[in-house]
Amino acid sequence: RYRTASPEELSARIVEAKNVLGDSVVILGHFYQRDEVLRHADFVGDSFQLAQATQSRPDAAAIVFCGVHFMAETADLLSGGDQAVILPNLAAGCSMADMADIDSVTECWEQLEELYGTAPDASGRVPVIPVTYMNSSAALKGFCGEHGGIVCTSSNAQAVLEWAFERGQRVLFFPDQHLGRNTAKAMGVPLAQMPMWNPTKPLGGNTAAQLDDARVVLWHGFCSVHRRFTVPQIQAARAEHPGVRVLVHPECPMEVVDAADSAGSTDFIAKTIAAAPAGTTFAIGTEINLVNRLAAEHPEHEIFCLDPVICPCSTMYRIHAGYLAWVLEALVGGGEAPGQVLNQITVSADVAGHARLALERMLAARP
Ligand code: 13P
Ligand code: SF4
Repeated sequence: RYRTASPEELSARIVEAKNVLGDSVVILGHFYQRDEVLRHADFVGDSFQLAQATQSRPDAAAIVFCGVHFMAETADLLSGGDQAVILPNLAAGCSMADMADIDSVTECWEQLEELYGTAPDASGRVPVIPVTYMNSSAALKGFCGEHGGIVCTSSNAQAVLEWAFERGQRVLFFPDQHLGRNTAKAMGVPLAQMPMWNPTKPLGGNTAAQLDDARVVLWHGFCSVHRRFTVPQIQAARAEHPGVRVLVHPECPMEVVDAADSAGSTDFIAKTIAAAPAGTTFAIGTEINLVNRLAAEHPEHEIFCLDPVICPCSTMYRIHAGYLAWVLEALVGGGEAPGQVLNQITVSADVAGHARLALERMLAARP
């Protein structure tokens, strides 16, 4: 029924279900979602904006999150206690978020505590503060909340690192090595003071002296979509399109961010394009659904993806209109059947308190 329906039929059914549900449901959509899903969203944004949007409709009984699992968990943490958060397809995860698990991070933390001790220095700064990228499980957000740490997104990573350095001599940053490295480098931290932690090796594959000198200990995670962007792609774009502006997401490797004109969150990329004078050419290093949509929305510019091989985020892509229609029609219920909440995402009570604390620190730290 959902697999065989045409895009037009699914769209009509989503609209109909939304009309019946009215204000009792709010649909949030990340920029990377397919157009046929995003056109039904009440709010569209980057991870930070969607975290804020979660709190904007306390009247809605259900929040349908068209994004990936860690975003829906965050929505559950930040929304009202009796609001149900629904992820239309439970298989929509994030491979980067899966690269850091609570056991490996806890083991890393224990080794760092053994090395650094736990006593604050003369200015009251503790030896190390954990910072997790939003793209992580609720358990890791809980870990940060419990150990004096915080969450960041790509749009506030620098403000969050400043927050952390006010309270700690060093930062343990996970899971994305690239966002951590790019942000710390922009703040003047030398590369030599950013060792990477490989959880399969003692001391993460570092010497005690390297870790002692560290300012940011980087986890070894990465985004499989953003690591596809390369410096030769930027060189080719500049050779073929003189005057091109290259915009990339900070999940790209450092060499790519360095070779680009600017780097920032998905919302930063969208706003930079919207503010440019007509006739600008942009080469973009981020997920293809967003690049294609920006190209369609801005015919006054020439916009193309840096990577000539089209590569969507395969997990974002798992939310398609059939799933959205399915969860909305279940909420409506049919005939004598009452409305049903399908695919609810609920963060377990043992981590929720600390995870919420780490998220609230982030919301307060943003300039
Ligand atoms: P943004 O917060 O910039 O939207 O990034 C989310 C993400 O997963 C990028 O890969
Ligand atoms: Fe995760 Fe990368 Fe997809 Fe973003 S683009 S959701 S980091 S896999």
